[in-house]
Amino acid sequence: MKTQPVRNPFTLVLFGAGGDLVWRLVVPALFALFRKSHLSEGFRLLGVDRLEYGREEFCAHLGEHFDSETPEQWKAFCEHVDYLRGDFLEHETYQRIDEQLQGYEREFGDQAERVFYLATPPALFAPISVRLGQAGLGEAREHARLVVEKPLGHDLASFREINGSLTQHFVEEQIFRIDHFLGKETVQNILALRFANPLFEPVWNRSYIDHVAITVAESLGVENRAGYYEGSGALRDMLQNHLMQLLCLVAMEPPVAYDANDIRNRKMDVMHALRPITPDRVHEYAARGQYGAGWISGQSVPGYRQEPKVADDSETETYAALKLHIDNWRWQDVPFYLRTGKRMPAKISEISIRFKPVPHHAFPVWADQENQPVRLTLQIQPDEAIRLRFMVKEPGMQLRLRPADLVFNYADGFRGSSPSAYETLLYEVLVGDASLFMRADQVEAAWSLVQPVLDVWEATPPSDFPNYQAGSWGPETAEMLTARDGRSWLTPAAARDQSG
Ligand code: BG6
Repeated sequence: MKTQPVRNPFTLVLFGAGGDLVWRLVVPALFALFRKSHLSEGFRLLGVDRLEYGREEFCAHLGEHFDSETPEQWKAFCEHVDYLRGDFLEHETYQRIDEQLQGYEREFGDQAERVFYLATPPALFAPISVRLGQAGLGEAREHARLVVEKPLGHDLASFREINGSLTQHFVEEQIFRIDHFLGKETVQNILALRFANPLFEPVWNRSYIDHVAITVAESLGVENRAGYYEGSGALRDMLQNHLMQLLCLVAMEPPVAYDANDIRNRKMDVMHALRPITPDRVHEYAARGQYGAGWISGQSVPGYRQEPKVADDSETETYAALKLHIDNWRWQDVPFYLRTGKRMPAKISEISIRFKPVPHHAFPVWADQENQPVRLTLQIQPDEAIRLRFMVKEPGMQLRLRPADLVFNYADGFRGSSPSAYETLLYEVLVGDASLFMRADQVEAAWSLVQPVLDVWEATPPSDFPNYQAGSWGPETAEMLTARDGRSWLTPAAARDQSG
């Protein structure tokens, strides 16, 4: 189906325009939308930062790879770009933004939208949003939006504080909190798979499902982000947000309509039903790890403590796992195991739904020796696929059963490349649809859930770090999390494929 272009003219005001996020993700996404004619004819990108750029220089900086690949289109795109040098803390900057906006909007008319995108360090979210509000820039509620990125806080208290500032002048409907996982095609497809097919929903519950395992593994280490990561760690960086969103999509009830509030209400129901982890049970329900030196794809890689700008006695976890229970009718007694880590054997995100065994084994034991439970795997990335593993009879005179896979592969099923997560999310911001964004109550509930784990981990420093080797699937303590229940983490299907 053809994507409808964004209807209203708009100005995208990018705070932190000289930063990495803008150059790497936001502008490439906007340019991709432009090239596909998904934008309205009238639009402006106004970059705001303290750096000394002229308009031309700013464009040249943004377009480093585009102007050689698509020079004509890039030139046309740059016609829409402006730059304003200003200090985010000075009120005068906001008066100048206001003047620029008024100038554009004389041409755009009264349907013009304003999107204030805070691509800045999180410490600036509160001061910028408050100053925007004081300057009256967010007043037209229907036409002014505020976009913020994670991390939204460092813990429950700091989230409340930041959110309190955002909501001083902007209402919830105006605030778009990005979790880029929600922009990924395969993540959006979870709801399509569940609710556009009559097949899965009847068995999507405690009667048929034994457990759900969500793995988001990365082979990269901390790269050059130690400044941020040292104060964050895997639980805050990945689990509290991205994995929690995946869990909500797998566990939520069907929405009445595909509508931002309806979808987010259903996700909130899941958050409400998550059994709190009390401090005395943290060791049973949570595991942490930090990578030591090891090998990945034949390359030797250093341990976390040897990475640039990491303290040599750092206690930051680069791996986190949680066991969660959802106390509701559908999921009672079905554990959800969540794990994420850096420097694991491969970059793989997948959700594995393990079904219960058949109630009665009718086949002779010798025929059924390879028996495996039925498993549905949603491969989120990089080999986007849906895979159903089930038992079949092997051809031959002898009755012998073995597992086989039914695989739907996105690359084979659909031609052409999918939009990037940022492309999708930016488009949704511009059309004002918040379905793929995090609502405050959900973020707050996620912080509440992990807060006891953060507290206990902080109070009891790890004595065994580094406790997993780079290139392994994580620490032994995470194995214990599943082993205590008589289960185990499975090597992700995509990793098994990669290793042949
Ligand atoms: C970010 C985290 O939110 O997600 C990073 O801060 C992580 O640490 C990244 O590497 C993973 O995203 P993706 O899309 O590459 O899986």
